[in-house]
Amino acid sequence: MAAFKPALAFLLLLPAAWAGYAVWMEVQAPGSLLGADPGEALVLHFGEWALRVVLLALAISSIQRRTGFKQIVRSRRMVGLFAFFYTSLHLFAYVGFLAAFSLAEVFADLTERTYITVGFAAWLILLALSATSTRGWQRRLRRGWKRLHQLVYVAVALALIHFWWLTKDGYAEVVLYTAVFALLMLERLSRQAGSAASALAASSSSRNAADSASAMRSTSGSNRVSLISPK
Ligand code: HEM
Repeated sequence: MAAFKPALAFLLLLPAAWAGYAVWMEVQAPGSLLGADPGEALVLHFGEWALRVVLLALAISSIQRRTGFKQIVRSRRMVGLFAFFYTSLHLFAYVGFLAAFSLAEVFADLTERTYITVGFAAWLILLALSATSTRGWQRRLRRGWKRLHQLVYVAVALALIHFWWLTKDGYAEVVLYTAVFALLMLERLSRQAGSAASALAASSSSRNAADSASAMRSTSGSNRVSLISPK
């Protein structure tokens, strides 16, 4: 299945390609694909894809465990980078179309509109994860790398809070994404609980084995003592 990764990359590029086409159509015939407020439509389009793709990146290990399809794990870094790509397009569209490239306005939003602060925090985490996603950083950070990359759960939780905060009606979509995130978390927690339980069972059975071995040793030792003992 060598073609899987390029095929997935092609699929993940489609929302960006659609946005490019929609902008081009907008220039030809205003209001044709992006509606009355094209800037806002682009912010929403990229925001939705950012969330979908970051959830896909989170789902990859669960999909691999459930289906046994090992190839998919090799695409995890790429999917994560696509999530960062769409989040950055979302941020860029917001800065350009909604804040009119005014840094003062962006700063005011960051300090006054909590859902923007929360979204920005999620973007910063994804930035840090993307920047350290290489093998070189993995080697340099050792065990810290895994801990750092577990922040992806915090980023997704913040992105969902961001979405809940700005949703005023029509909650179906945000409920669906939250349910997907909750299911992925439950699957992971139950697996961790399962492996902790089996590790505990393994250590207690090896302790039992060690206890009975030492009991046997001391019994044979006492035999030896009794054998050489004058009594
Ligand atoms: C970089 C910082 C971020 C900023 C400044 C930002 C800004 C915004 C704004 C202004 C909107 C509302 C647009 C409107 O209703 O007119 C929005 C919506 C949204 N954003 Fe963000 N956002 C950020 C980060 C994120 C991240 C990290 C994600 C997901 C990974 C995300 C996902 C969404 C989603 C799903 C929506 C709602 C789309 C819809 O209603 O269909 N945002 N964002």
